[in-house]
Amino acid sequence: MEAMKAEVFTIEDLRRWRRLEPPALLGVMGDPVAHSLSPQMHNPALAACGIGGQYVRLHVRPEEFREALGALQRLGFAGVNCTIPHKFAALEAVGELDPAARRLGAVNTVIFREDGTTLGRNSDGPGFLRTVAEEFGRPVRELRILILGAGGGAGQAAAVQCAMEGCRSLVLTNRTSAKVEQVAAGLEGLPGAGVVSTVAWEAEALREVLPEIDLIVNGTSLGMKAEDPALLPEGSLESRHLVYDMVYKPLETPLVAAARAAGARAINGLPMLLWQGVQSFEWWFGRTAPVEVMRRGLQEATGWR
Ligand SMILES: NC(=O)c1ccc[n+]([C@@H]2O[C@H](COP(=O)([O-])OP(=O)(O)OC[C@H]3O[C@@H](n4cnc5c(N)ncnc54)[C@H](OP(=O)(O)O)[C@@H]3O)[C@@H](O)[C@H]2O)c1
Repeated sequence: MEAMKAEVFTIEDLRRWRRLEPPALLGVMGDPVAHSLSPQMHNPALAACGIGGQYVRLHVRPEEFREALGALQRLGFAGVNCTIPHKFAALEAVGELDPAARRLGAVNTVIFREDGTTLGRNSDGPGFLRTVAEEFGRPVRELRILILGAGGGAGQAAAVQCAMEGCRSLVLTNRTSAKVEQVAAGLEGLPGAGVVSTVAWEAEALREVLPEIDLIVNGTSLGMKAEDPALLPEGSLESRHLVYDMVYKPLETPLVAAARAAGARAINGLPMLLWQGVQSFEWWFGRTAPVEVMRRGLQEATGWR
């Protein structure tokens, strides 16, 4: 099998795997997976660190997940990332589970240890904290945070991480309110649980809370389509706001554009992708990741500056 020809590998490929050159060492399992930008970030990092291996995309269907995980371990992979829809199956499939991943309810990084055991972790949470610290220069625990779409997968993970870290205040909202109420109830017992509140998914409710917010996080998929409605009421953004949009297609989302027009600092979802990748790399190899090499890989793949 030629690594470069077959850009995306399948379970069939794993069953009759022959050695690639450079050997496959890491990968991402997803369904779909062809769009994943992780190879463009991890392959330059492996090269920069002198690690002779490559990071590949693996198209694995839900019913193939356990077999694929076993195959990767047998083939000598160091680890694998799990993306939609495998983050929950991975939680059940690993031998050992990191307590933070258990709390986040999902595994996106599997580490195959030399003694044959597997450890499941979640780099989305720590990646979220590092994104805020590195891109805005502020630790989450100092901030009053609003999460839009806190009932979705990414928004919920951010909410759990903020509550684990103990931020100053945490306001959650979601179009389907039952989901966000459930997320808020699930934060019970975490250091930040006492500062959590929910608000209605309505312009006036958001206008009211925004003066008391430092960091606005968009965890919804709004902004990906040109016809999507605006996330925040007009004129409600201030220059002191920090805006973190998890969406990165388009690179300048309407929320990022609105924030910049208001003089606020804003980032799209690529720094989040970067910092979770940095975290996974550091777990796999127990060394500092070459962050700028990884950032450049993403920039070259997307045109992001
Ligand atoms: N940058 C990164 O590394 C990264 C990582 C993960 C995800 N993301 C991005 O984050 C976004 C959410 O992903 P996910 O995996 O969390 O998806 P998800 O679990 O399907 O959640 C989608 C969220 O968007 C909300 N939503 C969808 N359409 C809406 C609308 N018309 N009006 C209001 N709210 C709406 C949903 O609200 P309801 O609950 O009411 O349906 C829910 O809160 C996606 O854009 C994804 O690309 C980025």
